[in-house]
This record gives sequence, structure tokens and C-alpha cells, in this order.
Amino acid sequence: MRTFIVAIDGPAASGKSTTAKRVARTLGYNYIDSGSIYRAITLKALAQGLDLTREADRQRLDGLAHTCQVDTQAQFDGDTLRVVTYLDGQDVTDAIRTLAVNRGVSEVAKAPEVRQAVLQIQRRMAGYKREGSETTTDKLSTTDLVMDGRDIGTSVFPQAELKVYLEADATVRAQRRYEEMQRQAMTKKENGSTLPTYDEVLRDLQARDAADVNRTHSPLRRAPDAVVIDSTNLTIDQQVSKIVELAQSRM
Ligand code: C5P
Repeated sequence: MRTFIVAIDGPAASGKSTTAKRVARTLGYNYIDSGSIYRAITLKALAQGLDLTREADRQRLDGLAHTCQVDTQAQFDGDTLRVVTYLDGQDVTDAIRTLAVNRGVSEVAKAPEVRQAVLQIQRRMAGYKREGSETTTDKLSTTDLVMDGRDIGTSVFPQAELKVYLEADATVRAQRRYEEMQRQAMTKKENGSTLPTYDEVLRDLQARDAADVNRTHSPLRRAPDAVVIDSTNLTIDQQVSKIVELAQSRM
């Protein structure tokens, strides 16, 4: 049976994961959030006290990345998909979304040894979900897949049936991320004063974009055959419909 892979790449906070989850749910495909794998490795590096500005500590990343057991599972939460991330058997879904992880992740992700380890994890996850040995849920395909990240269409699955490059103006992305953090803090009844300001969110996002675009190994690039969707003036529903239509037209 032919496997259909939808690769969605783009800069930070371009709406990739929200869009990818909805596309996966609509098509009934499995979903893998590749950023959460880099985030889980970063969390472990921070927990082990690695200072990524020090060369000696950066060298320890190799061993650490190759011994990390990372898995992500897309699960139905009512009508929507929710991704649960495990690191060495522990649920780290919330722990990988802190500011400390945001700030460290691009440094971790630029190490070639880390990218090699993550590539193996990504292909294994896509592979064994295909064999059905660890399926997410019986409502999702065990063969077809949506994966989002920075290098899915260029390096991880260059043979993907559909490649999408999702971009949006940096200020619009920062505003969306800022509002999302406010909403999440309200839901969890957290103290709003611990949240970053809009300017901090924008700076953090621009720093991550620059690091992702300028790194030597599999930098953030649009694959030549990717369909570019600029979401600056689009709603999530419009983005999802466009991608679903594109996928259906290629099946
Ligand atoms: O997608 P998300 O923002 O969670 O990704 C976190 C970081 O992981 C990115 O800023 C990038 O440095 C790295 N990443 C990557 N390649 C991917 C996915 C994420 O380098 N395929």
C-alpha cells in the first residue's frame, strides 16, 4: 500500500502544529511533531546542567541525544488531536514548552550529532507506526502521516507526497504566540506576571528563526517543490482547507 506523507515546514509560531494536527485529523493520518523531539532532548540537557555556550558541554550532547528515549503520540482529546511527548518514559508534554527550553532548543538542534539521532527517532517513529506495533489510536492511519518541523520536506522525508512551507509575518507570529500563552495561562490559572511580554516573545522568535535559518546542518529552507502558504492573512481553517485539498488532489 502506498504511504502518503504530508511534510509541513516553516519558521517558529507559523501555526504549523495547529494546522498539522487539524490536517491529520481531517485526513485520519498519524501526526508527529518533530519539534517536540528536539525540545525533549533540550530538556534532558538542561536537567543534566549542560551549559550549551561551553564547547565541552556541547560535545556531551552527542552521547545524550543517542541515549534519549523519545516518543510522541497523537491522541484524540474530544474532537481535536493532542500530542503527548515522552522522554525516557516520563510525560514531558508541558515541561518542554518552557522559556528555558525555547531559548536552548535551537542551540541543541544545530548539532549534527543531535540531528542524526533525531533523524533515526523520526524514521523509527514513522516506521513502527506504519507496522502498527505502536499505533496511536485506531481512528488514525498507521501508514499515512503528517509531520511538521524545519527540515521535513528537505531532509527527513524528501520523497513526501506533499510538502508545504508555512510562513507568516514575524510580528503576526509573535502576536499569535503571545495570545496563545496568555490563553494557556488563564486556563491553567497561572500567574500572568511570569509570562513573557510581547517584545520578549518577538525577540525569542526572531532569534530562533535566525539560528534555524543560518545553521550549517539541515537549516530551515523551503524545499524547491514545496507549496508556500503565507498565513499572515489566513485563518487556521483556511490553511487547513488548502492543505487538505492539495493532499486530496495528489492521492
Ligand atoms: O516546532 P518547534 O518550535 O517546537 O521546534 C523547536 C525547535 O526545534 C526549532 O526552533 C528548531 O530549532 C528545532 N527543530 C529543528 N528541526 C525540526 C523541528 C524543530 O531544527 N524538524
